[in-house]
Amino acid sequence: MTENNLKLTNQRKERAFLVGVEIKNEPSLLSLSDSLEELALLADTAGLEIVGETSQRLEQPHSNTYIGSGKIDEVAALAEETLADVVIFDCELNPRHLRGLSLRLGKSVRVLDRTALILDIFALHANTKEGRLQVELAQHEYRLPRLSHAWGHLERQGGGASGRTGSAGGVGLRGPGETQLEVDKREIRKRITILKREIEKVSEHRKRYRVQRKRSRIPVIALVGYTNAGKSTLLNVLSNAEVYVADQLFATLDPTTRRVILPGAHLTLFTDTVGFIQKLPTQLVAAFHSTLEEINEADLLLHVIDASHYNAAAQYESVRETLAEIQADNIPVINVFNKSDLLEDAEEAARVLAESDPDAFLISARTGQGIDALKSGIMKRLFEQMVPMEVRIPYSEGSLIALYHDQGIVDFFENEQNSVVIRGTIPGRLITYFQRYQLPETVPSIAPDFD
Ligand code: GTP
Repeated sequence: MTENNLKLTNQRKERAFLVGVEIKNEPSLLSLSDSLEELALLADTAGLEIVGETSQRLEQPHSNTYIGSGKIDEVAALAEETLADVVIFDCELNPRHLRGLSLRLGKSVRVLDRTALILDIFALHANTKEGRLQVELAQHEYRLPRLSHAWGHLERQGGGASGRTGSAGGVGLRGPGETQLEVDKREIRKRITILKREIEKVSEHRKRYRVQRKRSRIPVIALVGYTNAGKSTLLNVLSNAEVYVADQLFATLDPTTRRVILPGAHLTLFTDTVGFIQKLPTQLVAAFHSTLEEINEADLLLHVIDASHYNAAAQYESVRETLAEIQADNIPVINVFNKSDLLEDAEEAARVLAESDPDAFLISARTGQGIDALKSGIMKRLFEQMVPMEVRIPYSEGSLIALYHDQGIVDFFENEQNSVVIRGTIPGRLITYFQRYQLPETVPSIAPDFD
């Protein structure tokens, strides 16, 4: 799809040399080496062969080349020695860095950054029309400011002799003296507009479906978590279905929704969606907006954590950060610690967890251990647990006022000029219906401390 696309088939695997970077005073959830290890996993998922790595700690990035001059010489020599086709930096490089590094590292290797690599994996794994549109949009948004790097030269087109480099501004016909770079930028901007329009159309359908779902009042539970935590496996176990599972990062991109009957014959819908990762490219978060809305609209989140991962705590934090970024951090959450079968002492882990996070569950989606308890826990949270809720609801939302009376317990009720104030408790599954009108004091505290 892009000139950065990595080749998976036919020929030999492309050979990748990795460069880790850490900027002093720049907060990072993973250590330099852990982040580099994750980059290696990403490269592997993209079908690359890793041939070597190096890293550098910096006070701040160098303005033209990100890493220092001596380090570049080292990377160039190592890349040559290991016959690398591509050098991947574990950060996001701006257009200037990309240009500077490409010039210094020479024509025999391509320079990529972490963002381009993640975009590439998404491109490989996008299966539905919506997924493909979203990835293409994210790729173009990423490429647009970096095009001059890809061109490396400004090829003149047309007959303008004045040396004019001003752009056509993305509209109108190609003017005299317009560079090929400008033409390309204009084409990409056009494509971005078309893609946004198409995505909007596809997501309209999804929105209509969500409205229907809301009307039916069937609770929706969204599975969220770091990539590879086991969300799809858990969805399969809960719904006895066959969602694609792979020991790969970002195997699932498109939301999959399944019906699950919880104890007490309660019907629910579970949605599995894209996994998170630290430094999730902002272009992706923006492009996947409509997919991520599935999370925002859920009644409950199951935060699936790979308990056997040595970096589980950092991954947990990273997911919480992304949830905050997409404004889904006020939705009730149950923490689900998965892969208990891989723990050396699962009993001890369960004991520690019961103390530190009594509402959490320790399970193995692979062996089925803890699944029944989890189902009961979700059922209780949605159907039995009453949560305090103080709201100011406009009269125009009469059905919502009626819903509070029907299903909740009203302790206080007051008519105002255009609205009513109600204080009381409602079943947990109805929180999202009232959240929009919630008065601040009663926002339930739902994110337990991880430690
Ligand atoms: P993304 O699509 O990247 O977001 O991944 P995901 O969170 O959906 O993970 P997925 O279910 O694809 O599982 C990732 C890998 O972990 C697969 O190889 C699963 O077989 C494995 N896995 C999932 N749950 C368990 C578990 O309880 N125990 C063990 N040992 N492996 C598990």
